[in-house]
Amino acid sequence: MVAISMKGVILAGGKGSRLLPLTKITNKHLLPIFNRLMIEYPLNTLLNSGIREILIISGREHAGDFIEYLGSGKEFKAKFTYKVQEEAGGIAQALALAEDFANQKPITVILGDNIFDPRFKIPSFEGGARIFIKKVKNPERFGVPVMLKSGSTSSPLQISKILEKPHKAPTQYAVTGLYQYNYQVFDIIKNLKPSARGELEITDVNNSYIQKGLLTAKAINGFWSDAGTFPSLTQAIKWTIKNS
Ligand code: DAU
Repeated sequence: MVAISMKGVILAGGKGSRLLPLTKITNKHLLPIFNRLMIEYPLNTLLNSGIREILIISGREHAGDFIEYLGSGKEFKAKFTYKVQEEAGGIAQALALAEDFANQKPITVILGDNIFDPRFKIPSFEGGARIFIKKVKNPERFGVPVMLKSGSTSSPLQISKILEKPHKAPTQYAVTGLYQYNYQVFDIIKNLKPSARGELEITDVNNSYIQKGLLTAKAINGFWSDAGTFPSLTQAIKWTIKNS
């Protein structure tokens, strides 16, 4: 479990266009997954791991609904701060808004549409950057690590590069939307160039840490899914109902 003082960031901006028409009048992360709103799942992943100081970054349109629903954090015995990403310029662009909040300290970042097994606990973090990977049936939909060595306790996972949504995946692993970074992350983001789809990509941030030899990866067990497409949203709802 992470040290109690670690700060967490939930990224809940973006357009949610793969869930149209549901996202025509609300933010994707305010859609229900069984008996809770989507945002509560990544929030609980942080809270269950002892992270209590949390920044929630959302798009402008429905920012007020997040505050209305989650409040100050008091009922969760936590402290919530809110920020607005004016336009959906990418995951790394949203993360850049967390610089003051991080205040030079390490942060744990989770994507607002990522649903982790409720038993999963975020481990403590040493420095550099860390990603969490999971074997999936359809890695082409995700960031996919190119691996040099398969992991065990004696030989940790070695990743030479991450490919964002490759046509042909080099491994069966997906990079999940949970990341831990030291203070350097904000300088890395300042030097990023937009990708072909016009976004500042989190995969480019992670590749920069890899080039510096500062990225570690951990394979996770248990359920994990994003909920940003109709098939993955359905999968997350089904799993949650079955395991409630
Ligand atoms: O779910 C894991 C995957 O998430 C990773 O494997 C990929 O490497 C990573 O790029 C990302 O892929 P997606 O295509 O699923 O990202 P998406 O654009 O759906 O954004 C995921 C979340 O990030 C979304 O729920 C809210 C947040 N976000 C996204 C954008 C584009 C923002 O807060 N602001 C943004 O501008």
